[in-house]
Amino acid sequence: MNQQVQEIAADCQRLPERYIRKHDKEYANDHVTNSFTISSPAEIPVIDVSLLTSSDVELHKLKSAVTTWGCFQAINHGIESSFLEKVREIGELFFRLSADEKKECLREEDDVEGYGNDMVLSDDQVLDWTDRLYLTVLPKDQRKIQFWPQNPPHFREVLDEYVSEIELVYEVVLKALARSLNLDEGCFLNQLGTAAKKSARYNYYPPCPWPEKVLGVKPHADSSAITLLLQDQDVAGLQLLIADQWVPVPIVPDALTINVGDQIEIMSNGIFKSPVHRVLVNSKKERMTLAVFCPVLSDKVIGPVDGLITDETPRLYKDVIYSLDFFFKIYQQGGRPIDACKI
Ligand code: OGA
Ligand code: NI
Repeated sequence: MNQQVQEIAADCQRLPERYIRKHDKEYANDHVTNSFTISSPAEIPVIDVSLLTSSDVELHKLKSAVTTWGCFQAINHGIESSFLEKVREIGELFFRLSADEKKECLREEDDVEGYGNDMVLSDDQVLDWTDRLYLTVLPKDQRKIQFWPQNPPHFREVLDEYVSEIELVYEVVLKALARSLNLDEGCFLNQLGTAAKKSARYNYYPPCPWPEKVLGVKPHADSSAITLLLQDQDVAGLQLLIADQWVPVPIVPDALTINVGDQIEIMSNGIFKSPVHRVLVNSKKERMTLAVFCPVLSDKVIGPVDGLITDETPRLYKDVIYSLDFFFKIYQQGGRPIDACKI
């Protein structure tokens, strides 16, 4: 297996060739991006989750956010600030362990689960400047507990509690997304299935002396239905591609940055937009985030929900099985898996 990025960064005389990014030209022009961020007043919408069941105004804001940005900053989501601090802390403590200790959770060569860097699927694949700890968290009987760190000692307990809290936010948001389209509130949740798998991924981005030459994560859209991201408290880096411009996602204290993924773009017949995003790295500071991915069951056929297909809005996506394998094959070759789902 490749050396971990953290080890490369600790002794970085020369940037290994495999991390040097190709131009993201196919997506956007960086030069234009800079002027956009200075001149544009637009910001990712902030949504008060506690109002989503009672306020039509907030529901409308949610719909507008997800149809234009595919993303919003969720506040008042019910998870205590002090607890979020603990969730960040267990990740930080893990990545601070010695290389040998972390390797007790090392992933296997051909699987994403566990600790490690990019899975290499082809010789010309550009690697991301990040190490990850990727864990299946739900359903509980699918957890591979051997990959859950034993150190720090409270890691398992804290992540387990975080997942329970995230479940509640996930349900409120998916019901609200359905109601925002005048659909039955259970319609997305039903397609996702009650025993749907969820994964948590700590993303650790070491500082890089050549930040302009690498990417923390290459441009991609998430395969999930939705993703709930706990950002680093101090260091930003995530950017969304909106109308051909890279727009930075600011840090909103204690917010969850929630984006929809390809699967809900399909289920909503393209009304919700799964945003392409990427991560920049910092020359001096490390950054750590925690993403919880909420996809459909991997062998389940998904498609646009009935209520959204009309004469004026014909079906745009096929019924598909959108598995992680399907996603990775197309993504690592630089394509967008969702394009293969379009009619
Ligand atoms: C991801 C992702 C963003 C970040 O894990 O899919 O896009 O800021 N992460 O870490
Ligand atoms: Ni992502």
